[in-house]
Amino acid sequence: MNEVKKNEVSSSCMRLTVSSSCMIHPDALLALLIPSTMTILQTKTDGQRKRGLNENPFNFVQLFRKRNEDKNYKTNRAENKKENREERERRRRRRRDFHLSISSTTFSFSSILFSQFSPSSSLWICCFHFKLPNMASSYTPKNILITGAAGFIASHVANRLVRSYPDYKIVVLDKLDYCSNLKNLIPSKSSPNFKFVKGDIGSADLVNYLLITESIDTIMHFAAQTHVDNSFGNSFEFTKNNIYGTHVLLEACKVTGQIKRFIHVSTDEVYGETDEDAVVGNHEASQLLPTNPYSATKAGAEMLVMAYGRSYGLPVITTRGNNVYGPNQFPEKLIPKFILLAMQGKNLPIHGDGSNVRSYLYCEDVAEAFEVILHKGEVGHVYNIGTKKERRVIDVAKDICTLFSKDPETSIKFVENRPFNDQRYFLDDQKLKNLGWSERTTWEEGLKKTMEWYTQNPGWWGDVTGALLPHPRMLMMAGGLEKHFEGSEDEKPASVVSTNTQMVVPSAKNTSTQQKSPFKFLLYGRTGWIGGLLGKLCEKQGIPYEYGKGRLEDRASLIADIQRVKPTHVFNAAGVTGRPNVDWCESHKTETIRTNVAGTLTLADVCREHGLLMINYATGCIFEYDAAHPEGSGIGYKEEDKPNFIGSFYSKTKAMVEELLREYDNVCTLRVRMPISSDLNNPRNFITKISRYNKVVNIPNSMTILDELLPISIEMAKRNLTGIWNFTNPGVVSHNEILEMYRDYIDPNFKWTNFTLEEQAKVIVAPRSNNEMDGSKLKKEFPELLSIKESLIKNVFEPNKK
Ligand SMILES: NC(=O)c1ccc[n+]([C@@H]2O[C@H](COP(=O)([O-])OP(=O)(O)OC[C@H]3O[C@@H](n4cnc5c(N)ncnc54)[C@H](O)[C@@H]3O)[C@@H](O)[C@H]2O)c1
Repeated sequence: MNEVKKNEVSSSCMRLTVSSSCMIHPDALLALLIPSTMTILQTKTDGQRKRGLNENPFNFVQLFRKRNEDKNYKTNRAENKKENREERERRRRRRRDFHLSISSTTFSFSSILFSQFSPSSSLWICCFHFKLPNMASSYTPKNILITGAAGFIASHVANRLVRSYPDYKIVVLDKLDYCSNLKNLIPSKSSPNFKFVKGDIGSADLVNYLLITESIDTIMHFAAQTHVDNSFGNSFEFTKNNIYGTHVLLEACKVTGQIKRFIHVSTDEVYGETDEDAVVGNHEASQLLPTNPYSATKAGAEMLVMAYGRSYGLPVITTRGNNVYGPNQFPEKLIPKFILLAMQGKNLPIHGDGSNVRSYLYCEDVAEAFEVILHKGEVGHVYNIGTKKERRVIDVAKDICTLFSKDPETSIKFVENRPFNDQRYFLDDQKLKNLGWSERTTWEEGLKKTMEWYTQNPGWWGDVTGALLPHPRMLMMAGGLEKHFEGSEDEKPASVVSTNTQMVVPSAKNTSTQQKSPFKFLLYGRTGWIGGLLGKLCEKQGIPYEYGKGRLEDRASLIADIQRVKPTHVFNAAGVTGRPNVDWCESHKTETIRTNVAGTLTLADVCREHGLLMINYATGCIFEYDAAHPEGSGIGYKEEDKPNFIGSFYSKTKAMVEELLREYDNVCTLRVRMPISSDLNNPRNFITKISRYNKVVNIPNSMTILDELLPISIEMAKRNLTGIWNFTNPGVVSHNEILEMYRDYIDPNFKWTNFTLEEQAKVIVAPRSNNEMDGSKLKKEFPELLSIKESLIKNVFEPNKK
């Protein structure tokens, strides 16, 4: 029989004793606990009570183990006595009136605990403390640090608090990653109670410095890598920012010891997928079962927050929110992406069949929820910020089509699904409602406001082509882009804090409406053919770029370049190819190794260390026709094939480095072959070369038309594509076919003589590779890519036609 006795009541708590001579059903316990804001403070077994042993009330595993050890109690008694005394003392020192909300972990342990003991087992006494809501709070925030507030949600929160609470000082810390925008904070920037600091939450020195110098008493922690699609790529960035970054903040709170509230912003995704037919949403005590790397890092961060609350008494509150939408959101996320695509008259790509369900809250409502939690939230508690209203992704797309008067039948395109796409996140939103919050904005109203904002601010984000792709992979930036407050009438500089971390000093008077490029390229290979062409292309496309000054093999000089240029992407078109041809490498082997192997690897490594993507112009001259890929068969070498041509020292070094670069997930290797451009005077151009030779072999090969493919390599950088790519136009063309075109388009009198491969071998030092590369991977990514012969005519011979 279970008996619940109320045996102690104070102004803020009452103690209930649950005595049980039989097993308490966990569901009954659950029903008892959920409506309350209860904290388990003490749990004792008979044996422990007899011995006066105060166990850690939360460590049920330890409790259970201890109880089993009771059997050996007598024999171990003397030994245990000393240990128990020490333990008792340690726990006595640590015990305090902490209020840990009942977490899923606690529940599962309580379930185990209660089901482990049969009705006939010894008497259990569990003492529960019920904390009565809203009775203990005399807290008023003064100096609030908001992390990640140049991003979406936190910018609304910061602007709201700055506007509504002139007595609060709001300090914003953001590293200005790709998804942030200082313009999001324009409403606050001239307010005396607002301060922006550019910096990384992962920098302990900076965080400690800020907490102390700004006398921070409250932290609202939003900064994170937030895009699930990205987390399927470079998930280490998520661990670094979301878990490590949170840990640094928590440690700074511990060290400085002045924080009265730490509001940790988590997500509904930590609960994992909700069953399609579930009618009850995840409540705050539900188990955390994240399914993707993003949500796993968010759950990991939550565990640290909980641990700091428990271990050091940090007054923590955690929120878990549904999807948020509205102005200021970076267009990689569904709603702004669909709006921008619809504005551009493009199709709306839907992952999978669009049946996934999401719950959406308007940003202003969410900002209000944070205001309520800041003032009324109970320390130690978790609050879902949710809505019961759910929408299928396909219906969101249809609603956006309707707003833009587009036909959903023709405007919606179904694309490949994510590796894992949760069907539904359904939250129980009652707990926050009990604090007095409820959503105000209807879906129709919110979507209309959002659509109007994006149509009025089409250039808010600059060039976001990459983000509008079906599966965008934006690059998380180590240093962040230098960005400025722009576009407001009043350009008075916001406050900045001077530390050794790079800070943004908002621009001086600048009323220019010119859009800033979100990219900055660092190029290596200035004096080379491809490197030179890349610079010209960047100029043409308005992409800021600089050439690297460092030598590839000199690590320090590369780091200096990156610190100076602060690039978003690095392009390596530097390397030793030999002048006038690759024969040079046969007699300059160490120089070839230094640049092509040591240099390329050093650059890749430095880029990786700085979270940068490196586009590497490599070569396809590492294959030769063989029995499995015979000449004329149409069977080309694929990206995963291992090099089989090391006849020349040049090819040997390139094959070695390509193999090693496979270990670098920040590198995009482009296998260029026999490059051709429309500049027929350039001595490096394959056509120029063969049209000047006395004799030429005649063998089909895959080749790269630079006029078409170099812009594609820039697009690949914007899409943050990595891995190995055959970077040739699909198909093959023979020497004679090219020379025939040359005769037809350029010089009707042109004649040439062929010789055999054996004859050629006598006049060259190193053997040359001949092969066909399989171009299907590139063609799939860029369906408009022309075959080699089409591209030769369109990009090389037609423009040079005489
Ligand atoms: N957007 C949603 O629908 C949603 C839903 C639930 C929970 N959340 C959570 O809310 C928070 C904010 O989400 P959002 O959509 O506004 O994100 P966002 O991607 O728009 O903004 C994140 C901000 O954090 C900054 N940042 C990232 N790493 C940083 C670091 N190491 N140091 C300093 N700044 C850093 C970025 O520069 C950016 O300004 C996140 O913690 C997210 O997990 C978002």
